[in-house]
Amino acid sequence: MNLLSSPGNPLKGTIKLPGDKSMSHRAALFAALSTGDCLVQNFLVAGVTRVMLEALAALGIKWSLEGTTLQVQGMGLCRGFDGIDPVTLDCGNSGTTMRLLAGATSALGLPVILDGSPGLRGRPMKRIVVPLQQMGVDVQASPDGTAPLSISARPTDRKLQSISYALPVASAQVKSCLLLAALAAEGETVLREPGPSRDHTERMLRAMGAEVETRILLSAGGGLASIETRLLPPDPLELQPFDIVLPGDFSSAAFLIVAAIITPGSQVVLQGVGLNPTRTGLLDVLQTMGADITIQNVYESCGETLGDLQVRHSALRGVKVTGSMVIRMIDEFPVFAVAATHAHGRTIVSDAQELRHKESDRIHNLCMELARLGADLQETPDGFTVSGGTLLGGGQVNSHGDHRLAMALGVAGLASMKPIEIQGADIISESFPQFTGALQECGADIHPG
Ligand code: S3P
Repeated sequence: MNLLSSPGNPLKGTIKLPGDKSMSHRAALFAALSTGDCLVQNFLVAGVTRVMLEALAALGIKWSLEGTTLQVQGMGLCRGFDGIDPVTLDCGNSGTTMRLLAGATSALGLPVILDGSPGLRGRPMKRIVVPLQQMGVDVQASPDGTAPLSISARPTDRKLQSISYALPVASAQVKSCLLLAALAAEGETVLREPGPSRDHTERMLRAMGAEVETRILLSAGGGLASIETRLLPPDPLELQPFDIVLPGDFSSAAFLIVAAIITPGSQVVLQGVGLNPTRTGLLDVLQTMGADITIQNVYESCGETLGDLQVRHSALRGVKVTGSMVIRMIDEFPVFAVAATHAHGRTIVSDAQELRHKESDRIHNLCMELARLGADLQETPDGFTVSGGTLLGGGQVNSHGDHRLAMALGVAGLASMKPIEIQGADIISESFPQFTGALQECGADIHPG
């Protein structure tokens, strides 16, 4: 499917965002590991969460989905799977599904083969395989460190080993995988990350009764040295069932935020957006650039902060994004780059080499597609530089099978000189099937073309 996005209409309206993708994955999986019935409301119904649900069904978990309300019957953490044949789980395009399932099945001692799309098979898995092996999990990847991953059964009476492990790259997927495996380890597991990756796993496991602590470690000079997460397995080995209403996905809201900022005459309100500080780096950066964003009606629900965002069209100036800020907005760079093309002056992104390992090489593909539209930008090994302030032209661009790149290019078309046609836009339904509809509701001229 191609998407045609055209300039001209200001965005006006109030939008309620679908549930958070990261939290939907966790809520479904953690509910399955709990000891009872769980209820998840505002669950994200999208391609990537479908594969998680289907994988859970393949493992024998009973769940039902009505609209966006998910009910799951937990099977608990104590089951023996010795002697059973491995179950093959198709993780589709979803790195989160593969890495979280690797951790959970390691904890359960359940033999599985985790596989996925050609895109997912290209993504790095050594980052979970190496520490899982250190914990005593019998897990193998392809020789180049990618999926399929095969995890062997472990006798019920053999625990995993706890580890003290420094993640080379901040990653919530890797941290979550290891925290899940650590539930079945002997003693306390300690993980250190170079920066603040999203902490939904820690918050949710805590709410389920697990002992998880997070500390910020400072260097001698007073700067951030690392973030340390410690988990002590529950005794008895049980996680309490829960009911949760998921916040709106900040990473989906990001597209509407930037769309309103760059499109003249716009003013939108986004309701019930998750405002966990490990996720909202884009807000801070856009506000530094001069964006008119007001946060209203802030409240806490199920251990997370939510609020409404009022966003108006604004003039932006260039900015530097580096270090921890990159981690706090790791999924937002495609749409951030579009904002940067509208900012006066230079925007420099560095320390962001991790973007090369997302659903596509986001540094390369983003620079290539925006350059096609006339943007003045340079790819660098660990980021990009944009000289902004002139409107993008129109024409045909490609999603490269990357949902966030497709949506960012769709946003670009709303404030360019001419319409932009995005090829391969059906990939958007992997994370935000309501993207086009939400923009149309606000008056945008965007439709399949
Ligand atoms: C996610 C973590 C991030 C993010 C991804 C979702 C998660 O990946 O890019 O979209 O749900 O844990 P990394 O943890 O690998 O950076």
